[in-house]
Amino acid sequence: MKTTLYYFTGTGNSLWAARELARHIPDTKLVPMARLIHDGGEITAPEGRIGFIFPVYIGGPPLLVAEFAEKIDLTAADGIFSLVTMAGAGDGAWKRLNNILKKRSHPMNAAYSVKTPTNYMLLGDVLPEDQEIDVIATARSDIERIAGKINRGESVFEKGPFLMNVFNGALYPFLKGQLRAQGARFRADEKCNNCGTCELVCPAYNITVAGVNPPDWGNACESCFACINYCPRSAIQSGKKTASRGRYHHPNVSIKDLMVQNGRE
Ligand SMILES: Cc1cc2nc3c(=O)[nH]c(=O)nc-3n(C[C@H](O)[C@H](O)[C@H](O)COP(=O)(O)O)c2cc1C
Ligand code: SF4
Ligand code: SF4
Repeated sequence: MKTTLYYFTGTGNSLWAARELARHIPDTKLVPMARLIHDGGEITAPEGRIGFIFPVYIGGPPLLVAEFAEKIDLTAADGIFSLVTMAGAGDGAWKRLNNILKKRSHPMNAAYSVKTPTNYMLLGDVLPEDQEIDVIATARSDIERIAGKINRGESVFEKGPFLMNVFNGALYPFLKGQLRAQGARFRADEKCNNCGTCELVCPAYNITVAGVNPPDWGNACESCFACINYCPRSAIQSGKKTASRGRYHHPNVSIKDLMVQNGRE
């Protein structure tokens, strides 16, 4: 059976996770959700198994992923699963996405989360590099195990730690609006040399870098944290804490990979 993996990523974990799944699931194609949303028009899933691979944001799915699930025609789908990348708790993201799919009469038949390094340095610092390597190594074997279940067609809804997920999931309805507002909180400091990377990695086309002026953030932010984490000079800040904190993106996901996702390549 053919498998189509629709992915969304800010800092590469979810694209990498989709690639890892594809290594273990035969006849698999990766398709970027951001690109299809920006292309506009109808979105129709092909025949076969469909997977959604994306990060959790404050206990729910990214706004773009929710929009994609509202839009895609899943009539030809033969089994739908999701794989959420998360730093601590991801169940809320696939549950909320599944609520959208259930309303559209195409419920998932399996859902998984996999722990990957955090990219959200507003809450706390990113991990030290050796820990990032360990987390990615564990994620790699988790994804191989998950791919086995998908290949066997198992109907599994893997649940993470209960309390963490309850706490995490409860925040989403209240903080969801803040995801869009994040763009207005970013600013470039004096280290910025107008290289334009932040504009290229933004899946929401929410940043303009022109001439000698500092980059300008608009109101369409997805809160993916690609700009702040891929800026080669660590020149992007949000609030007072990020200047002293590290940056993270998946080591095997390049700026060019994000440009492909975003329809800029
Ligand atoms: C705005 C934002 C909110 C986040 N919220 C959560 C969360 O509620 N729970 C969690 O475990 N991780 C959370 N994270 C961490 C990411 O889900 C995690 O690092 C993910 O793997 C990033 O995927 P990506 O590299 O594909 O963008 C959050 C990250 C961001 C940027
Ligand atoms: S990526 Fe960083 S250095 Fe480059 S334009 Fe954006 S803020 Fe400036
Ligand atoms: S402005 Fe930054 S955080 Fe917001 S969508 Fe663009 S790259 Fe992601």
